[in-house]
Amino acid sequence: MTSLSLSPRKFTIMASKTTQVYAIFGLFAVGCVSAHRKFPLGVHDFADIIVNNFTYADKSMFIKAVMRDDPSLILITRPRLFGKTTALSMLRYFLENRISPATAKKIGRLDLFRGTSISKDTAFCRVHRGQYPTIHLSLSNVNADSYEAAKTDIAHSVGEEKRTFEAVRDETASLSDITAGVRMLCSYLHRKNNRTVVLLIDSFEKPTLTAFLNHYTDQMRSVLNDLLLPVLKDNPHVCKCVITSISGIGQESLLAKLPEMRVYSVLDDERYTEFFGFLESDVRTLVDEAGLTAKRELLDTWYRGYEFCGTQLYNPFSVLSFLNQGGKPGVYWVPGGLTDFVVELMFALAPTVVRPALEKLFSNGSIDTVMYRDMSYLIVFPDPLWTLLVHNGYLIATPRDISGLHTVRIPTKEIRDGLLDLCTKKMPGKLNVTNPIPLYKENKTSTINSTST
Ligand SMILES: Nc1ncnc2c1ncn2[C@@H]1O[C@H](COP(=O)(O)OP(=O)(O)OP(=O)(O)O)[C@@H](O)[C@H]1O
Ligand SMILES: [Mg+2]
Repeated sequence: MTSLSLSPRKFTIMASKTTQVYAIFGLFAVGCVSAHRKFPLGVHDFADIIVNNFTYADKSMFIKAVMRDDPSLILITRPRLFGKTTALSMLRYFLENRISPATAKKIGRLDLFRGTSISKDTAFCRVHRGQYPTIHLSLSNVNADSYEAAKTDIAHSVGEEKRTFEAVRDETASLSDITAGVRMLCSYLHRKNNRTVVLLIDSFEKPTLTAFLNHYTDQMRSVLNDLLLPVLKDNPHVCKCVITSISGIGQESLLAKLPEMRVYSVLDDERYTEFFGFLESDVRTLVDEAGLTAKRELLDTWYRGYEFCGTQLYNPFSVLSFLNQGGKPGVYWVPGGLTDFVVELMFALAPTVVRPALEKLFSNGSIDTVMYRDMSYLIVFPDPLWTLLVHNGYLIATPRDISGLHTVRIPTKEIRDGLLDLCTKKMPGKLNVTNPIPLYKENKTSTINSTST
């Protein structure tokens, strides 16, 4: 990883001075950290990160991996806060051939990719940078308790994207116009630019999950089919579509109609692993730059433990929060990370079905279980709960063994403490938990079998 800043040279000088100051005034280091380096907590617009000189772990080779990937339709599933929105935003800034006035104003004459790994690949940049009409559709705002309101949220997202293309203004379109409109927008951009379109869709899980929680699953399913199928299925105007999501769970009917879509999940494909979450090398650089090298062991004790397809990773949000607090450990991710659904589900099932398994996991044990690929939210009782927890990042799973089972365990002390605290407050009776301080090195212990289907 290369940690880059707006002016890398200037920063290097700053960093070395900082280190000297810390060496002399070690005790004051904590309070001084953020004065030198800002952390992009809650910021996921790539331009905002670079323009404001926030710390950034260079994931720019993701762009090349995507453009070199054979399938044109790809879905990448990663846990919450692992950098999905940031990565899609970066893709857009790199690929799009048209800079909106608002973006131009924001970035001025700055080269957003200066100093990044991808910028050194001049042949690739010549062919791909600034070459594609790009549509970036975010479904993250779909969060309504009624079907009508959710439709309005979707219409708003689509309408917003259309409005960024001046010739396609359509602020008052109805939902049906808008669903048809995304394909029309692709066709319009293709014709106008004489280049096929790159389509980016973020937070793919959000409408389905919201609909499930609020009991309008069937209606949402048909809206999503109307919106996305014409765009994703045999669309000659789109050369590449990248979708990000926490999981594919709940979209089984749509995915079944798109067999050409390649799904990359944390369970079974190592491609893209290094681009979501911080690598060991990213963390080393970030900790050093923050002048918190001495806190590295503490950081590992709390946040080390994710492993996807053999690659060790850290949750970016947790690491940035730890550094932002001057190296103070805590449960940063769990409170925001637990979706209502996972919480509801765990507690609904806990008293009878999952309690012994949870006690096992909290005691640093593991469970052997099936992982589900295509699954509706309606059938997550009780076994597929573990699949859902893996996709959300509360558990990690080993690759499938010869009997078809995966071994799952809690990845980090942060997750374990956060979950245990929640369960202790919400579950009746005392939890039977032993070995209360798990360290990442001690995570491989005893195993129980979960019933599987
Ligand atoms: N390469 C990176 N370097 C530095 N910070 C990053 C990087 N990627 C992501 N982050 C930070 O990590 C946090 C989470 O990123 P982001 O919002 O993109 O995750 P996400 O996977 O889209 O989350 P969610 O699942 O909630 O949609 C943000 O604060 C963001 O600034
Ligand atoms: Mg996101």
